Amino acid sequence: MAENRDDLNQLLGSVKALASPFRAVLGELHAKYKNNRDGVVANYIPELAKANPDWFGISVVTVKGATFEVGDHNVPFTIQSVSKPFVYGMAIEDHGREHTLTKIGVEPTGDAFNSLIRLDERSKRPHNPMVNAGAIATADLLDGLRRYTGRPLNVDMSVFMSERSTGHRNRAIAHLLLNFGMVGARLDETLDLYFQQCSALVNCHDLAVMGATLANSGVNPITGERAIDARYVKDVLSVMYSCGMYDFSGQWGYEVGLPAKSGVGGGIVAVVPGQLGIGVFSPPLDARGNSVRGIETCVELSRRLGLHIFEAGADRSKLLETLSPR
Ligand code: DON
Repeated sequence: MAENRDDLNQLLGSVKALASPFRAVLGELHAKYKNNRDGVVANYIPELAKANPDWFGISVVTVKGATFEVGDHNVPFTIQSVSKPFVYGMAIEDHGREHTLTKIGVEPTGDAFNSLIRLDERSKRPHNPMVNAGAIATADLLDGLRRYTGRPLNVDMSVFMSERSTGHRNRAIAHLLLNFGMVGARLDETLDLYFQQCSALVNCHDLAVMGATLANSGVNPITGERAIDARYVKDVLSVMYSCGMYDFSGQWGYEVGLPAKSGVGGGIVAVVPGQLGIGVFSPPLDARGNSVRGIETCVELSRRLGLHIFEAGADRSKLLETLSPR
């Protein structure tokens, strides 16, 4: 059954690829990188270890709503840390930029997402909203995420319960934050919110729509609904650019040159401001917790389409035109 579905997905992927030159590019990348068997599916949350290492989907959604996708773009998976920038945006909207900055910094750490339990020496704030300490302080409701995806989201209860019963390091971080007055005393509720936020089920297409919403100044290009005040989009994109790929953020910024965020479920969202959102999903992770095929795909896509935001002379004005479905 699952194999039939895989075959069907592949067939649909190929048929769609024929419909547009850009889909053909995505099809090429998919065919090239699906054979890469590097990386390991996350297993520190026991439920995540059940993911199929062959799953691989690529989805691109433009600010005009045009959609291009190949592979397993419909397979649901838990959003994990990809939720962090979006929830950070909600926190800024709710509490204002200044207040949020007193609780969470914007400084990259160069550390793995959970390797060290530490806060900024002087301010006692978490360094940035992409590391776990920052995300726990910003945990908020799923409904905010729905505005980005344009459809209601469910929590994967097995993954939630699995992380809730094994997430001792996150509990330790929460206690440290409480010690310095960076979170309120209702630690269990806050942690549950954070674990639920991470266990929200999305697919690769959702990630591309979420990215396209940020690319489109905060308005979901499919539903027309505003997900975040346009004023705060740059706050979110800035921390994604500097901190979104953990201790690979510098290399990612250098090579891919796009604001992005990864999660241990295998998802990566990347944003080409003013143009499009990219979602890639493939569960095997490298040593830093980033999807192996996701990184390869984004590196090549950025190079081939000239997406690096600092690329001198790159003319992206014709990109959307090029990417219109024909
Ligand atoms: O806090 C955790 O361990 C997870 N629920 C989320 C971590 C995550 O996705 C880190 N990403 N690369």
